[in-house]
Amino acid sequence: MPSALITGATAGIGAAFARRLAADGFSLVLVARDDKRLAVSAEELRLRYGVRVEVLPADLTAEDGLAAVERRLREGVDLLVNNAGFGHRGTFLDVPVSDELRMLKLHCEAVLRLTMAALPGMRERDRGAVVNVASVAAFFTRGTYSASKAWVVNFSRSTAAELAGERVRVMALCPGFVRTEFHDRASMDVSGIPGVLWLSADKVVAEAMRDLARGAWVSVPDLRYKAIVAVGRLVPGKLTGQVSRRLGRR
Ligand SMILES: NC(=O)c1ccc[n+]([C@@H]2O[C@H](COP(=O)([O-])OP(=O)(O)OC[C@H]3O[C@@H](n4cnc5c(N)ncnc54)[C@H](OP(=O)(O)O)[C@@H]3O)[C@@H](O)[C@H]2O)c1
Repeated sequence: MPSALITGATAGIGAAFARRLAADGFSLVLVARDDKRLAVSAEELRLRYGVRVEVLPADLTAEDGLAAVERRLREGVDLLVNNAGFGHRGTFLDVPVSDELRMLKLHCEAVLRLTMAALPGMRERDRGAVVNVASVAAFFTRGTYSASKAWVVNFSRSTAAELAGERVRVMALCPGFVRTEFHDRASMDVSGIPGVLWLSADKVVAEAMRDLARGAWVSVPDLRYKAIVAVGRLVPGKLTGQVSRRLGRR
């Protein structure tokens, strides 16, 4: 039975990965901070899909939490999904530097360390994959959130390039707006985001798994967002900067 470890597995995109991978017969290791919610999610998955589910409560912005997940990865898993993440409500200059650093720890340090903990075992067994959840925001300018997700994309592409020719894969997943708990947790007002721009977490995961199977290094689910990223590359940076700055902040 293949195994997968998912960070941020109790809500949104991480929970959609857990459902999809359980349906595909993976045994799972679920990581998040809220241990009660982890236990409930694990039990639901066991009952519905009949797979083995472990829980690993950990705060990935804390050294002990990160080290515990690294240890579990070194025991071996076939798929790592680095998904846990969060957004800020305020603009760059309003957010306390401690919150910005916490974001860099979760979006960059945790992704780096967990990938480095998982890859040696995967290479030894000559199979496995890492999916790093970034964002369409990686291609635009939106403070530390965008900058950290741009790091995730570049890091994933660089690692995928290093592994070219091997059977181990690394892919950055870049969703647009997805209906999850993300925006509520950040107290963002997203009432101005048009309905057509919202994606479902299950659809994002289905497209990610297709892209991973075909060996993509970067996955941007949904044609609308593929077009947005392509246009964003052609338009002058100052213009995209002005638009991204306003989105979701009314
Ligand atoms: N929703 C979107 O529109 C969107 C778009 C593009 C990219 N993304 C990215 O997709 C990923 C998942 O987001 P989501 O929308 O699914 O968010 P979500 O619904 O808010 O879920 C976040 C998950 O991460 C866990 N988590 C948060 N902080 C953590 C920490 N310090 N340590 C361990 N686990 C932690 C949460 O559980 P606990 O609170 O129990 O820890 C929860 O399971 C993020 O990386 C996000 O940046 C989201």
